[in-house]
Amino acid sequence: MSNNYRADFPILQRTTNEKRLVYLDNGATTQKPLSVIRAVEQYYHAFNANPHRGAYELSVKATEIYENTRDKVREFLGAAKSSEIIFTKNATESLNLVAYSYGMNFIQAGDEIVLSIAEHHSNLVPWQQVAKAKGAVLKYLYVSDDGTLPEAELEQKITAKTRLVAITHVSNVLGIINPIKRITELAHAVGAVVVVDGAQSVPHLPVNVQDLDADFFVFSGHKMLAPMGIGVLYGKEELLEAMPPFLFGGDMIEYVEEQETTFAPLPAKFEAGTQNVGGAMGLSAAIDYLQAIGLPAIEEAEKDLVRYAIAELRKLPYITLYGCGDFVDKTGVISFNVQDIHPHDVSSILDADGIAIRAGHHCAHPLMKYLGVNATCRASLYFYNTRSDIDALVESLSRVRGVLGYGLK
Ligand code: ALA
Repeated sequence: MSNNYRADFPILQRTTNEKRLVYLDNGATTQKPLSVIRAVEQYYHAFNANPHRGAYELSVKATEIYENTRDKVREFLGAAKSSEIIFTKNATESLNLVAYSYGMNFIQAGDEIVLSIAEHHSNLVPWQQVAKAKGAVLKYLYVSDDGTLPEAELEQKITAKTRLVAITHVSNVLGIINPIKRITELAHAVGAVVVVDGAQSVPHLPVNVQDLDADFFVFSGHKMLAPMGIGVLYGKEELLEAMPPFLFGGDMIEYVEEQETTFAPLPAKFEAGTQNVGGAMGLSAAIDYLQAIGLPAIEEAEKDLVRYAIAELRKLPYITLYGCGDFVDKTGVISFNVQDIHPHDVSSILDADGIAIRAGHHCAHPLMKYLGVNATCRASLYFYNTRSDIDALVESLSRVRGVLGYGLK
């Protein structure tokens, strides 16, 4: 089965190691369609100026591009107000903003921060820093054998002492979709706020932050067709209003005196320095591209592809799959190991066949330890992948053990 999307992505037309490029590392970053590449090019060809600063046409245009993108992101995420959308450079910076500005000011000694064992380091290490600085306690939600979060685990760990829950919407290692609505319900019942890492969900399924009732929600543009260097933090207005700025400097101020400064209102309060307007123009084009297909259609196509991939991979008896149970709700992320073979060797052998996967710990050391592995291979899909990409993966994997002198059963 094929689709026409591949033709929109110039890089997918190239070869690698003289083979057709089979790009299966979309969890790390996605490729960019021509419309996004052209949008960034057009910005620097025709509109480049510093936004919010100049009273001349080009600067006004740059401001318009930047603020129109903010409105588009608001609508894309289902947020109530554009002032709740803060541009950052990526999900990691967004999470650090929340940790430094909210965590360091509103978490106190003895408070509990609840997070899942499957968090990316970006939604774990900042909370460790907050816990150390404030004398708070980190409590982990442990996943079941199939990678899902048990309801009992949520009910036991989210207690009256919980002040904050940091949770990924979709695990970057397992692809499991976490029950965010249930988590926000439990957390809000005890007065805790919920920080959702949407880096692996926003590109792959419809998201509505008000429906999820997330207090903070972050994502990166580059994992959803946009350029690297632009990311988003959504925060509920009353929380963002109460938080001090994270970075200080130009554009985030109202008045500066020799000894004192007053800060700009939202969202400028959190956007110090010259912003990435070219990236915003690319992000705007990326959202247009995704919306033209439709996130429900993307989710459905990816789920169909991942089911096919899992069924095919199960035919190879020396492959162990993680988070691929029959009843799990997941996106197109498949972690696996090939018996006796280090993931880096698997990745190198696949690379020779033109297949790009990620091998390693996936910025999730605690999850690797919990799963009892040092590393895994990870194939992560997007809507432009096809069954022939999966067939190429499986065919190449079926030869890996033989290449390294092991038996094939
Ligand atoms: N967070 C990215 C990944 O999971 C880099 O690959």
